Amino acid sequence: MKVELYERIWMALAAVMIAGFLAVMISSSVAHAIHPPSHVETIDPAQVATDPDFSRPRVEVRPDGSALVVGTAEMFAFKPETVRVPRGRPVTFRLTSPDVIHGYQVVGTNANAMILPGYVTQFTVVFPRAGEYLVACNEYCGLAHHLMQGKVIVEEVRR
Ligand code: CUA
Repeated sequence: MKVELYERIWMALAAVMIAGFLAVMISSSVAHAIHPPSHVETIDPAQVATDPDFSRPRVEVRPDGSALVVGTAEMFAFKPETVRVPRGRPVTFRLTSPDVIHGYQVVGTNANAMILPGYVTQFTVVFPRAGEYLVACNEYCGLAHHLMQGKVIVEEVRR
């Protein structure tokens, strides 16, 4: 089969571009730990308010210094609204929604997940820098969607 020179050049260019895109995707997902959550756990959205776990939005710091955040995203607030967690330690978030789909994006970090009614969203992150971070809802959830915000305060661990 005879392939024209220009045809071969375009084929090579396309192959180089595809390889480049793949390299960018793989390297950024490894370097920034970007990956889809793999945790699957269901919950009845109508039972969230009376659930023994999710009816108590809270932050627990475990003896090893890691932290557990249990809460909800609902129209139009995050519970707890302000979360204090240690810097440099694994922080596991367990979140669910009693109403519609919300987002939980800790702006400026790689913590960014969808909160779906019927499911428990669980992910673990390590915040490398202390500071105050805005939590934004990045899924349109209703008229006051733009007012829905929270705060994650990453604190230096005292010994
Ligand atoms: Cu919650 Cu948008």
